[in-house]
Amino acid sequence: DPAQTDAFRTPIVAVLGHVDHGKTSLLDKIRGSAVIEGESGAITQHIGATAVPLDVVSKIAGDLVDPEEFDLPGLLFIDTPGHHAFTTLRARGGALADIAILVVDVTDGFQPQTHEAVSILQDSETPFVVAANKVDTIPGWNPSPDAPIRASYEAQSDRVRGDLDERLYEIIGDLSDAGFSADFYWRVKNFRQNVGVIPVSAETGEGIPDLLAVLMGLSQRYMGEEMEVDISGPGAGTVLEVTEERGFGSTLDVILYDGTIEEGDEIVVGGTQGPIVTTVRALLQPRDLAEIRTEKRFEQVESVSAAMGLKIAAPDLKEALSGAPVRVVGDRETEAVVEAVQEELAEVAVSTEEEGIVVKADTLGSLEAIANSLREAEIPILRAEVGDIAPRDVSVASTADEDTHQAILGFNVDVHDDAAELAAESDVRLFMDDVIYQLIEDYEAYVENIHR
Ligand code: GTP
Ligand code: MG
Repeated sequence: DPAQTDAFRTPIVAVLGHVDHGKTSLLDKIRGSAVIEGESGAITQHIGATAVPLDVVSKIAGDLVDPEEFDLPGLLFIDTPGHHAFTTLRARGGALADIAILVVDVTDGFQPQTHEAVSILQDSETPFVVAANKVDTIPGWNPSPDAPIRASYEAQSDRVRGDLDERLYEIIGDLSDAGFSADFYWRVKNFRQNVGVIPVSAETGEGIPDLLAVLMGLSQRYMGEEMEVDISGPGAGTVLEVTEERGFGSTLDVILYDGTIEEGDEIVVGGTQGPIVTTVRALLQPRDLAEIRTEKRFEQVESVSAAMGLKIAAPDLKEALSGAPVRVVGDRETEAVVEAVQEELAEVAVSTEEEGIVVKADTLGSLEAIANSLREAEIPILRAEVGDIAPRDVSVASTADEDTHQAILGFNVDVHDDAAELAAESDVRLFMDDVIYQLIEDYEAYVENIHR
């Protein structure tokens, strides 16, 4: 019954993990397998996301996935560069992603961004699986390209299998330290209670069928009902980034997680000065790689339904905020939608004090995450904002009474040259990092040093 199928939206899968552990390679491999299956046109590369329809998932997963068992239309993967905190992106008070893949290099094991990702998944209660990647790099590995991992596992010598087991137990131990009970995925019965660890190789494709099968099963079994929404309703999404595009001015890269958005729709977007009300001028999707090199990078589409990545062109988007909500007004009162967006912005607004440090972060979600960590560490905040470090921030930081508070913590942001100069002149200390706890540790170490 196609009408029924249309009622289920695509689950959003975040791919996260430490730098270079193979997140992008895994997605490339999935795209590549689809090309081999003669389905190259079926997988679409979106803004910040890759959509894989159910029939392609089931072709790649072979016997492990029976498409008859699923109502969900497929999976939408969001790649998150290791140095970026997309994981902190929110949607209606929760995490943007419905589920996640934590990619861990089997040889490298847990690294700072792996720990960070786990703690974000924990806070947002996002179910996840672990892809223990690069199994092909284990010395003596006997590859079985694109095979399910059990077969490949059995095809290894005792020594190689023992070597792999040892590394997998290391990862399972790190998960356990973080409060998660984990096991080899084929021993896991309930993927919401236990984290399944799936050995994979983005290089040889081993384990990819298992990974897709587990993700489909996890989303269908435990999230089927949450996915059953009216995708013809007014669209709702989250801003990934505000970018300038030639010919379009300021545009929004958005993950649409609910409903439908159309050209000409009135929308409300969270901005630095409060909600922005504007009208969609164009909806854009990237062209195929081959076409991008020719003339235009984008293709204009009339309408997009969840879940999808897209670029929105509209007037007055300059002040829009990364991580802020985007809402289609539809047949509601504009004012009611403005209020709803305002409420969501207020929810993430960080409470500040008369005295404290200045915090800058790349998205609203990461700002909220860092503010929570600072509160736990009992470090007061004078001002917290999304954006790069500008001279104005240095001026604000220099007004703090206590020396140790004349500091700016920048998470995933850049420093304007004139701001760096001003900071040096005015003795305001800048702390920059892509890992929240590292940033806070660095600042605490500095404070301790001063007080000694
Ligand atoms: P960031 O986006 O920078 O966080 O990295 P990433 O996690 O996306 O890693 P990426 O996919 O770019 O891979 C990093 C390097 O590891 C590349 O040189 C890949 O070719 C290599 N690599 C990834 N997966 C595998 C694998 O399964 N086996 C082998 N041998 N190499 C891999
Ligand atoms: Mg990458």
